[in-house]
Amino acid sequence: MKILAVSAGRKDGNCEVFTKAALMEAEKMGLEVELVRLRDMDIYPCTACSGQFCAAMDDPTKCVHGKDDAAFLIDKFLDCDGFLMAGPVYSTTGSSMTFAFRDRVFGPKIDAVMMSRFGTPKWAEGRVKSRPGALISVGGALSSHWVSMGIPSLYSTCFSASTDVVDFMNVTGIANPGAATLDEAYIERAKQLGRNLAQAVLDNDHSWRGEPSDEDVCPSCHFNAMLFNPKKKDVWCAICGTHGHIVMDGDEMKIEWPEEEQHENHTKPCGLEAHGDEIGEVLMNRYMPHKDEIPAKLKVYQDYNACIVKSPSAEAKKAAILANLNKDK
Ligand SMILES: Cc1cc2nc3c(=O)[nH]c(=O)nc-3n(C[C@H](O)[C@H](O)[C@H](O)COP(=O)(O)O)c2cc1C
Repeated sequence: MKILAVSAGRKDGNCEVFTKAALMEAEKMGLEVELVRLRDMDIYPCTACSGQFCAAMDDPTKCVHGKDDAAFLIDKFLDCDGFLMAGPVYSTTGSSMTFAFRDRVFGPKIDAVMMSRFGTPKWAEGRVKSRPGALISVGGALSSHWVSMGIPSLYSTCFSASTDVVDFMNVTGIANPGAATLDEAYIERAKQLGRNLAQAVLDNDHSWRGEPSDEDVCPSCHFNAMLFNPKKKDVWCAICGTHGHIVMDGDEMKIEWPEEEQHENHTKPCGLEAHGDEIGEVLMNRYMPHKDEIPAKLKVYQDYNACIVKSPSAEAKKAAILANLNKDK
C-alpha cells in the first residue's frame, strides 16, 4: 500500500516539512511513501489544445507537450493507494505549480464519469479507483482571508479522480524558510494528518477524520468557502457544490443542507454525472446548433490583431533561427 505525496512548495520549504512529518507517520504504520517535488518536475501548463476534452485521452504520452513529466506523474498517481497534496498559498489561491499539475494529471482524461460513458482507455485499465486523500495548504499570512482559496485550490485536484479527502490542514502564519519546524502544534497536526490518511488507506474507509473546527461548515467537504445568494437564502459550497438554505433561529443564522438536494456534489459520483450532463448540454444544445455561424463571427476578432503583444523571447528565437538559415546560404 503506497501513499503518494505531491508538494508544490519550495525544496526543504514549509509544505515539504509538514508533508514529510505526515509521511514519516504513515511509514511507521507500514505504508510505502513517495514524495514528488513538483519543482523538480518538467511540467508545462495545459494548452486546452483539443478545445474541450483532452487530446491525449487515449495516450497521455501523446500530449502536445511531448515528453515532459505529466504522463510519468499520471502513472505515479494511478499506482498509489492514498494521495497527499501540499501547496503554498500565493495571492490567496494555490500556486501555478499546483494548477499546472492539476490540469495535466487530472481533468477529463482521468474522470471516472467520462470513463463510464466513453470507456476506460488502456493506460487506465484496472487502475481507476477512489482513493483517500489529504491536503496541506501553507500560507504566510495570519488572516484567514489571505489564505482563503488555498484549501479550495488543493481540493480541485481531487474531483475528477474521485479522491475522497479524509483530512486537511489550513496553515496560517508560516512564511519564511524553515518556519514550519518552529511550530510544534502544526508539526503534531501534520503527524495526525499522516496517521489519518494512512489509517484510511489501511481500513479502506474514506470517511472524514479531520478535527472539528470553525472551518467545518460544509457537511461534505468540511471547509467554509461559501457562495451566498441572500435574496434567495441560498448557499452553495464553493468547493464541492453542496447546497444549503439559510434559516433564522431567533437571532441565530443557521444553514440547513437537505439530503435530497445534494445531487451536484463534486465529490460524489452523482455530482460528476450531473457535471457530465451539464457539459453535454452546453456542447450539444447550445454550441452545436450554432456551430456554422462561428467562422464569420469569429473572423471579426481574429482580424483585430494590432493590440497583440509579441513575446520578446519567441521573437528572439525566431530571429536566431532565421540568422542561422541565412548563414548556411
Ligand atoms: C508570490 C508569493 C505570493 C504569496 N502570497 C501569499 C498569500 O496571498 N497569502 C499567504 O498567506 N501567503 C502568501 N505567500 C507566502 C507563502 O505562502 C509562504 O511563504 C509559504 O510558507 C511557502 O511555502 P513553501 O515554503 O513550502 O514554499 C506568498 C508567497 C509568494 C512567493
